Amino acid sequence: EAGLLQQADDMDTQGADAEVPAARDGDPADTPTAADPETAAAPRPAGPAAPGYDDAEREAVLKVMRERRDIRNGFRSDPIPHEVLLRVLEAAHTAPSVGHSQPWDFVVIRSADTRRSMHELAMRQRDAYAKSLPKGRAKQFKELKIEAILDTPVNIVVTADPTRGGRHTLGRHTQPQMAPYSSALAVENLWLAARAEGLGVGWVSFFDEREMVRALGLPEHLEVVAYLCVGYVDEFPDEPELMQAGWSKRRPLSWVVHEETYGRRALPGEDPHDLLAETVAQIRPLDAKALGEAWERQKRMTKPAGALGMLEIISAQLSGLSRQCPPPIPEPAAVAVFAGDHGVHAQGVTPWPQEVTAQMVANFLGGGAVCNAFAAQVGAEVCVVDVGVASDLPATPGLLPRKIRAGTSDMTTGPAMTREEAKQAVEVGIETARDLVAAGNKALLTGEMGIANTTASAALISVFTGADPAEVTGRGTGINDETLVRKTDVVRRALEHHRPDPADPLGVLAAVGGFEHAAMVGLLLGGASLRTPVILDGVSAGAAALVARAIAPEVLAACIAGHRSAEPGHVAALNKLGLRPLVDLDLRLGEGTGALLALPLVQSTARAMHEVATFDSAGVTEK
Ligand SMILES: Cc1cc2nc3c(=O)[nH]c(=O)nc-3n(C[C@H](O)[C@H](O)[C@H](O)COP(=O)(O)O)c2cc1C
Repeated sequence: EAGLLQQADDMDTQGADAEVPAARDGDPADTPTAADPETAAAPRPAGPAAPGYDDAEREAVLKVMRERRDIRNGFRSDPIPHEVLLRVLEAAHTAPSVGHSQPWDFVVIRSADTRRSMHELAMRQRDAYAKSLPKGRAKQFKELKIEAILDTPVNIVVTADPTRGGRHTLGRHTQPQMAPYSSALAVENLWLAARAEGLGVGWVSFFDEREMVRALGLPEHLEVVAYLCVGYVDEFPDEPELMQAGWSKRRPLSWVVHEETYGRRALPGEDPHDLLAETVAQIRPLDAKALGEAWERQKRMTKPAGALGMLEIISAQLSGLSRQCPPPIPEPAAVAVFAGDHGVHAQGVTPWPQEVTAQMVANFLGGGAVCNAFAAQVGAEVCVVDVGVASDLPATPGLLPRKIRAGTSDMTTGPAMTREEAKQAVEVGIETARDLVAAGNKALLTGEMGIANTTASAALISVFTGADPAEVTGRGTGINDETLVRKTDVVRRALEHHRPDPADPLGVLAAVGGFEHAAMVGLLLGGASLRTPVILDGVSAGAAALVARAIAPEVLAACIAGHRSAEPGHVAALNKLGLRPLVDLDLRLGEGTGALLALPLVQSTARAMHEVATFDSAGVTEK
């Protein structure tokens, strides 16, 4: 039980540093943040409003934008007076448009028959979408209302005519999509004007666009931009319904404003901030109060104290991490599979050809790999990220193209990456964490693919554990004795060449790491900064966790060791990290497979905190 105790001690130490919960700038917020004018309580505008606008009028403009909502629930059936609908349509019609082409038309639908047939089309699309979702998402989706076609007295179809204004429409010649963009602006005007009238608007995009054109008898040359359900409502929620349902989170403004060049993020009046430094600054220890509540609650749950063993530590960790007891159930979850190639492949460290990395990426995207089967079983999403695959990969749904370079350099002859490249790859991981968490994921899992990457993992682990390369270099995909000797020698030579300094984790990554290792470092740091648990997969994740810990020791607050792989380096890494793996089945595949198997354990322990009765509530006598 040494690991278990050690981890419990770590948490106590971390937890001793009690914190005042506070929404920070970098949190994708359930709660408003000061930096986000969309959610913050009405900010007092500084300076005079424009000529012709007094302060109250300026505030009214901002207020209607803040308080506009997409509405699907709570519609009243009372009709919309003609003059009200006219005002709303006039607002739409004053929208800006490319070359002043005014490409929109508005088809106002009141007929119950037409609405019923549109409703049927939308229901079919809803079913198809539901079937395409990972189980963890599908459960959530089942509870969501996504249209109010039959509940609203008026539906409005907004179209774009891509031919309006003729061949020489100013501005559309370079970008044909400017026509539908213009119609979308008309929708926003309509939406805002409707809000000020107390009319709710719900946009429905669950349609096959051509099917819709035919069903509505629209001229074939028109494009449908929006199908809107409009009617009076008694109230407008403060936050998007999808946020309230836990489907998504609002991204802070500070994530999306760049100064001069993309990546130099800064709000007006602030100095540009470094994504890595900002992320590290937001990583905090486990919250002592929630941690204490979790231990207390587990004692009162109807089971002998400590009877859930290791899982009790995990639920306490989840509580401390989320600052909530019971903690949120970590569902939905997503595994980020980072793929990259390795220059050290040239040293003959594996019999597998390098092309297999790209081929396996195609397999992940096609749903044919073990990680897909395991993800389907446990209801997780598979997100594949190309951070450094040697060949060009075709754009495919589910693939995030974030290639830093087409494979690292051979670490035995020079650094695998430049320091800047290593940092960029870490940032890819941070941004992946941000995207997945903002999209509503409540647990992140590490996955990776890269032929020859266990060589880089062994080198990283040797640096951070101080173990000899012979102790931490393993057979990876199952190499023979001769190749193992060569691989160990390669690791040794690389370390002798670079003499990496563990006090300079980015330098170590650059010298002997891989793009996917660096991206996993970013995923861990990003997850920790967002107080979201990250379940580690095998040896490469262990190597990445050592790097992440060297950058920000508190990152471990978010880390859960999913499994122990058959690679010897993994054990060394886990021991150094003080993490005890949940699953120990001699897996040595990578791809996130071990982390996926551990996911239901982590979810079960959080669910137990929610659902298991306490001795007092159940009337069970304690010993
Ligand atoms: C282009 C577009 C398409 C949308 N399609 C749908 C939809 O099919 N069903 C739905 O319930 N909401 C739809 N919405 C509404 C969004 O879910 C909503 O705008 C978002 O959750 C933010 O909430 P808010 O509009 O209340 O701020 C759509 C919004 C836009 C802009």
